[in-house]
Amino acid sequence: MKQGRTLYGGLRSLARELEKPEWAGARYTILLDENTFQLCLPQLISQVEALQEAEFIEVPAGEECKSLEVAAQVWQTLLEGGADRNAVIVNLGGGSVCDLGGFVAAAYKRGLRHINLPTTLLAMVDAAIGGKTAVDFGDVKNSLGFFHPATLTVIDQAFCDTLSDPQRLCGLVEAVKTAAVADPALYRQIIATSTLSAADVRQVVRLKRRIVQADPYDLGIRRILNFGHTFGHAIEVHSHLPHGISVGIGMAAAMYLSTKKLGLDREAYLSYFKWLTGRIDLPRFTLKDTEAMLPLMHQDKKSADGELRCVLLQEPGAAVIDLPVSDHEVRDALLQLGKAQQGGSR
Ligand SMILES: NC(=O)c1ccc[n+]([C@@H]2O[C@H](COP(=O)([O-])OP(=O)(O)OC[C@H]3O[C@@H](n4cnc5c(N)ncnc54)[C@H](O)[C@@H]3O)[C@@H](O)[C@H]2O)c1
Ligand SMILES: [Zn+2]
Repeated sequence: MKQGRTLYGGLRSLARELEKPEWAGARYTILLDENTFQLCLPQLISQVEALQEAEFIEVPAGEECKSLEVAAQVWQTLLEGGADRNAVIVNLGGGSVCDLGGFVAAAYKRGLRHINLPTTLLAMVDAAIGGKTAVDFGDVKNSLGFFHPATLTVIDQAFCDTLSDPQRLCGLVEAVKTAAVADPALYRQIIATSTLSAADVRQVVRLKRRIVQADPYDLGIRRILNFGHTFGHAIEVHSHLPHGISVGIGMAAAMYLSTKKLGLDREAYLSYFKWLTGRIDLPRFTLKDTEAMLPLMHQDKKSADGELRCVLLQEPGAAVIDLPVSDHEVRDALLQLGKAQQGGSR
């Protein structure tokens, strides 16, 4: 799988790019939601001449757009508009719009080009990179999808100006995740400063691209990027918390287990725990919660042969994939989270 290019020069670099011959004859359809329609489309149209005549399709904001029904509506609109293989889907939104738009592009006429213009920090450092597209189906997140890399991803951090603090935190968490498994110095720096400079965003994207390059189809090493996600997906579905926040809590649970199973330094766990709990209140899970979350975790795609498997850390920068974890260990990790915050960590 060939990864597309990533441009870091914002909308100006997109404007220059779309003047190139490879985009001649392209018919652009911009996919957006009500928020990016209001907050992001004006800048895009004013700065990128090639998109001034583009069609646009509005989809529901957030995870709600990641459904087969919404994808079908977009395909229908494309068909009715006579879209052929010169059509290019431009995803103007967060991870949800990028996931949906990539999915739509992958299937329509056996694959259209698409451009990701991520408008959330999470999408810039994670969702818009790496070629995974998906919708949710049968109550299982990301259960339908294709590997279909965006031809182009353009990072413009000016879009982050309108994000709320929780949205920003979600992006920071995914950056922490990538750094935790691939760049210990950057990991420590982000935990210490809680900010991402343009250079940091670029570095996180580079790290992710390097990992994806080594294992584009997620058969081995790429799975280190699932750190915190087996717990995180279950928390997201069970507690209805945003993806990034859920993954942040999932990483706390995974680090706790890492101290028990892989000898992760307790200080490393505690410094992460302190960082996270300085920003959010951890849910106080009960046994009823853990019993509802366990099946969700078993359903997760990381579960093989009925045995739950997780990514854990030996130390920042050294992750181990596919580590078997028992139901008892999952309960322990989840139950101790809220208690640990109340008691100043265990
Ligand atoms: N494909 C991948 O590799 C990958 C990786 C990580 C996450 N994801 C997916 O990404 C999704 C989460 O993405 P997300 O966190 O970006 O959230 P999101 O796309 O669901 O957007 C959250 C909210 O932010 C709003 N928003 C978007 N841009 C904004 C802006 N500039 N200012 C103000 N509000 C804005 C949206 O309208 C929406 O209401 C999940 O579905 C997750 O599964 C995919
Ligand atoms: Zn994620």
